[in-house]
Amino acid sequence: MTQAYDEAYRESLENPEEFWGRHAEECFWYEKWDKVLDDSNKPFYRWFSGGVTNTCYNALDMHVEKGAGDRVALIYDSPVTNTIKKYTYAELRDEVALFAGVLAEYGVEKGDRVVLYMPMIAEAAIAMLACARLGAVHSVVFGGFAANELATRINDARPKAIVSASCGIEGKKVIPYKPLLDAAIEISEHKPKNCIILQRPMETADMHPSRDVDWAQAMKKASPKDCVPVLATDPLYILYTSGTTGQPKGVVRDNGGHMVALKWSMKAVYDVDEGDVWWAASDVGWVVGHSYIVYAPLFKGCTTILFEGKPVGTPDAGVFWRVISEHKVKCMFTAPTAYRAIKREDPGAALMKNYDLSNFKILFLAGERSDPDTITWSERNLGVPVIDHWWQTETGWAIAANCMGLHHFPVKYGSPTKAVPGWNVQVLDEMGRPAAAGQIGALVVKLPLPPGTLPTLWGNDQAFVNKYLRDFDGYYTTADAGYIDEDGYIYVMARTDDIINVAGHRLSTGAMEEVLADHPDVAECAVLGVEDPLKGQLPLGFLVLNAGVTRSNDEIVKEVVEMIRERIGPVSAFKTATVVDRLPKTRSGKILRGVMRQIADNKSYRMPATIDDPSILKEIENALNTIGYASSRATATPS
Ligand code: COA
Ligand code: AMP
Repeated sequence: MTQAYDEAYRESLENPEEFWGRHAEECFWYEKWDKVLDDSNKPFYRWFSGGVTNTCYNALDMHVEKGAGDRVALIYDSPVTNTIKKYTYAELRDEVALFAGVLAEYGVEKGDRVVLYMPMIAEAAIAMLACARLGAVHSVVFGGFAANELATRINDARPKAIVSASCGIEGKKVIPYKPLLDAAIEISEHKPKNCIILQRPMETADMHPSRDVDWAQAMKKASPKDCVPVLATDPLYILYTSGTTGQPKGVVRDNGGHMVALKWSMKAVYDVDEGDVWWAASDVGWVVGHSYIVYAPLFKGCTTILFEGKPVGTPDAGVFWRVISEHKVKCMFTAPTAYRAIKREDPGAALMKNYDLSNFKILFLAGERSDPDTITWSERNLGVPVIDHWWQTETGWAIAANCMGLHHFPVKYGSPTKAVPGWNVQVLDEMGRPAAAGQIGALVVKLPLPPGTLPTLWGNDQAFVNKYLRDFDGYYTTADAGYIDEDGYIYVMARTDDIINVAGHRLSTGAMEEVLADHPDVAECAVLGVEDPLKGQLPLGFLVLNAGVTRSNDEIVKEVVEMIRERIGPVSAFKTATVVDRLPKTRSGKILRGVMRQIADNKSYRMPATIDDPSILKEIENALNTIGYASSRATATPS
């Protein structure tokens, strides 16, 4: 019986106002909405317009007031510092209220932006919730980004304050954050008034005498702040994500729709109830961290785990099983790359035998396509369903999933199963015509998008329309290509733009090309995402040097690798580049990146009819051979 899913799906599309209006009743509102779905300014749809609420109230205070103040809200589990710290709902609310007092003391008010550049510590979640409490708009920047990327975000969001910590801990390395933050502020045009810095014991940050504020000292003097009512349609946060250039896109999330959709998703998609222990092993710098480490589990009244560690090496490939067993985790969510890392270190899952995993019910994977090997390995060893699901920073929650709280469909490997209620997913061909079952095309979503999705890009309505709504009239373009089979299962095959997915981290090869092109000896360049057994994809650079350059290729490659690390950050994992005489192009001058990628991945490729000079492909293959990629297995078929 697929009834629960079928009914929810049908109602969500045929009668979205009733469907979402009913689920909104489970949230707290100071004032009810005028309209569930406001379509008065198409294509800018708004959810719960006129409604007044507060996200932090819904995440914390509401549970305390209902008598669940003693329930554990958040467990900070940090194998890298040997710490486990638990906060009950009442304790977390009090900490958040106090930190909201600190922010208010330094002038942060409703509508102000606050950039958070934080490692995976409880204070990251506390700072996010404190912003929400005040109606301020947070923008969390992932710690693995370099000063330059942070500066770009500071300039775009124009924060009144920045919250950071003295360091992050990456495996066994301590990464000082403050020098990166200082460098970012130095190069950014916009300067925040204050930076609130949490000093961690393993690294002491130098403090700027007039700008920097010590977190601990400020907390001692602060008085708690209450929740500030905001409109459902007011922004809760901005999360920058890679676009097709070095200029990241500021995805906006509102308060009301986000709260309703995320709370509903905890049961419908993840089969998690109030009081259950839930673990999303991601980072607060990514959308998964926003939605499923912090907000959704707290809206639902769950216990959420915030984990500062890696799947391997902190201390070993058994750490996931230790966390699941120690905290009695019911469901976990992570990226397939994390399980590939474990599988590589402990293929027989010997370390799992040391732990009691009897409370564990479902493993959810997302962020990249789940390869069948990883799914079957996890199913075999864990003995629980392993559920792939598909979503994006922009969407904020799953577009396609096996909705475990509605109906558990048979898994088809390679597919994240079916469209989630609320999502009218379709496949269109290049002319915008519906594709037949099984035929690959653009994966699009018919407007309006459900609540919780991006209402616009920060300060740039036009870019929102251009990037997401212009390709097909009346549809949101996901920029993923794929197909839907005759049973309604969705298959996500590839991005249609230059985005690559490295260890579940979304990166733009265009942004990397912009950096390479800045090297004085580089005339032309291309960056491709090539297959990698651990990280899914890795970036690989091709450089054409200026005429007359006599320096060694190795030296130049070393310099460009360093430049990308410096300007984009270590998370780009850009470690390999090769120098070639020329790049394969079409007669109109377009670089044939797709063909180059096929060669690097040892796949057969179709010789493009428009190629300018086919002999270049042999040169590319030879260059790839010298750095351990490609082989003569990549064969061309005539176009
Ligand atoms: N702050 C500072 N540096 C960071 C960072 C952070 N928050 N996160 C990553 N980095 C650095 C790493 O130290 C590494 O630097 P290095 O080149 O000096 O070694 C680089 O960025 C790449 O990091 P990462 O992609 O994490 O690779 P890894 O080799 O250290 O680990 C995995 C590989 C698979 C174990 C790891 O990527 C992982 O656990 N992934 C889980 C996926 C995930 O959380 N996805 C989010 C979406 S669900
Ligand atoms: P991000 O914005 O970082 O969440 O990345 C979103 C992109 O990751 C999507 O557009 C897809 O290309 C890819 N992605 C995420 N989840 C999946 C999945 N389950 N299957 C295939 N691709 C996925």
